[in-house]
Amino acid sequence: MVFKEKQEQPDYLVGSVDFLGSKIDLSQKPFIPRSETEFWVEKSLDKLQDIKKDKIYCLDLFSGSGCIGISVLKKIKNSCCDFGEVDKNFLKQIEINLAGNKISGERRKIIKTNIFSGVKKKYDCIFANPPYVAENRIDEVEESVKMYEPNKALFAGEDGMFFIRKFLKEFENYLNDEGMVFMEFDPDQKKEIEDLLKAKKGIKFEFWEDQFKKFRTVFIKKQAQN
Ligand SMILES: C[S@@+](CC[C@H](N)C(=O)[O-])C[C@H]1O[C@@H](n2cnc3c(N)ncnc32)[C@H](O)[C@@H]1O
Repeated sequence: MVFKEKQEQPDYLVGSVDFLGSKIDLSQKPFIPRSETEFWVEKSLDKLQDIKKDKIYCLDLFSGSGCIGISVLKKIKNSCCDFGEVDKNFLKQIEINLAGNKISGERRKIIKTNIFSGVKKKYDCIFANPPYVAENRIDEVEESVKMYEPNKALFAGEDGMFFIRKFLKEFENYLNDEGMVFMEFDPDQKKEIEDLLKAKKGIKFEFWEDQFKKFRTVFIKKQAQN
């Protein structure tokens, strides 16, 4: 028997993970949902409860397994969610997870998109967990992660900011007035994100720590226009 040099990620061997009470299938080998993501998504659900609208339109961009949007659809009964992903294998993965979590057709749509290229409307909430690992820190990434998880889901140029910069440049075009954005990032990227957001008008933002007391998420709110 030939042994692999590194152990495959146990979650892939099991075939699924729990994410906020939903079973997330991993058969297409998407990015494995992380507990740091679960932590801020749970917090973001409280913000969604404050939206007083008959229907809340959400976009889960960079959706991978679809774990974020599926949690929103299951916990917020008047929500609808579009899932945006570039990789066709993960489009199939999202479909598998929607079916597995018994989410009906009219509340959701899967969009093949390169960041916002395929996004055609505005939303009340955008959730984004883009690839953000800096290639110049590749040595700090666990071997099993590099070997088995999709590299396209992890790395984002020398400093890890490639997708974040593009996302922050454009997100307002896809947000309704008073719409919200929740975006995950690496704690080292906080300063640049803060500078990019300070240069914008018509938004408010705050940073959230993860369960390990590291800044991990930015919450942005678009102000109503007069
Ligand atoms: C860090 S994973 C996040 C997956 C999932 N949302 C989560 O939180 O577990 C980033 C995802 O973005 C996708 N992606 C990479 N480049 C993209 C692009 N240009 N446009 C849309 N999605 C992209 C990857 O395929 C991957 O599924």
